Amino acid sequence: MPKGKIIVIGNEKGGTGKSTLAMHLIVWFLCCKKNVASVDLDGRQGTLTHYIQNRSDYANLHHITLGLPEHLSVTVRENPTEEQKRDDETAFMEQLEQLRNENDFIIVDTPGADSYLFRLAHMAADILITPLNDSLIDLDVLAKVEPETLTIKSPGHYAQTVWQARQKRASLKKPQMKWFVLRNRVMHVSTRNEKLIWKLLEALGKRINFTALSGLGERIVFRELFLKGLTLLDLGKSKSGVSMSMTHLAARQELRTILQAIGEDVCDRV
Ligand SMILES: Nc1ncnc2c1ncn2[C@@H]1O[C@H](COP(=O)(O)OP(=O)(O)OP(=O)(O)O)[C@@H](O)[C@H]1O
Ligand SMILES: [Mg+2]
Repeated sequence: MPKGKIIVIGNEKGGTGKSTLAMHLIVWFLCCKKNVASVDLDGRQGTLTHYIQNRSDYANLHHITLGLPEHLSVTVRENPTEEQKRDDETAFMEQLEQLRNENDFIIVDTPGADSYLFRLAHMAADILITPLNDSLIDLDVLAKVEPETLTIKSPGHYAQTVWQARQKRASLKKPQMKWFVLRNRVMHVSTRNEKLIWKLLEALGKRINFTALSGLGERIVFRELFLKGLTLLDLGKSKSGVSMSMTHLAARQELRTILQAIGEDVCDRV
């Protein structure tokens, strides 16, 4: 009986590539014949839910089989009473536990803003992955940077949210979560800004205990796949009807490197 691993994709910043990465991890594990559940904690925006629905529609339209996860969409209340919060938290933990009993991996996509269920999801994470655009604005949620010396002054508010989630896990005697901060939309030419972000991330990672990873490059293909519900991993397979280029291969290799870095088995089916 599986006791699935919970992988949360989180950042208190919008548009950093959370849903795109969540969908790629889901399809990666499905390709490796794992049982996968997905949770869209951003039920109001519903990007991951729509991505999965588009995948199902595309498969039906083209009479092909595309792997799909067991999906749960959750909408967080805007102004809950204390009682509603408690009820929602209990219900969410029960749903997560049930998904864990039935699946090898549970991929949780979160909105780019704090809420009571956002915090709970972080507390439940065995692995937390935080995608981040290569910009000082995006870094701000993780750390305050001293403008003159370009060194870290203090952790930012999202870093504090993660710290609290870790404290809560420790008080419940759960094993520590592994935290990875993943640079997304990395430009192909190395710039001064990019080198600075990398240096700051490495220093910050040592201080607040995360591993900085070089993630996905800036590639138009990520924007094009959503409507068909496809991922890089579906391309080139005759059933998907979309061919594979060298750029796609390079992007797939980046994904493989991420999975290796987070310590997951990279099966050779992908
Ligand atoms: N590596 C990449 N290269 C190019 N475009 C990308 C890349 N990653 C994500 N994008 C694009 O950036 C936009 C935002 O991505 P996505 O919706 O995954 O971010 P998000 O963090 O989930 O946003 P939100 O906070 O609104 O939920 C999308 O148009 C997506 O296609
Ligand atoms: Mg999203």
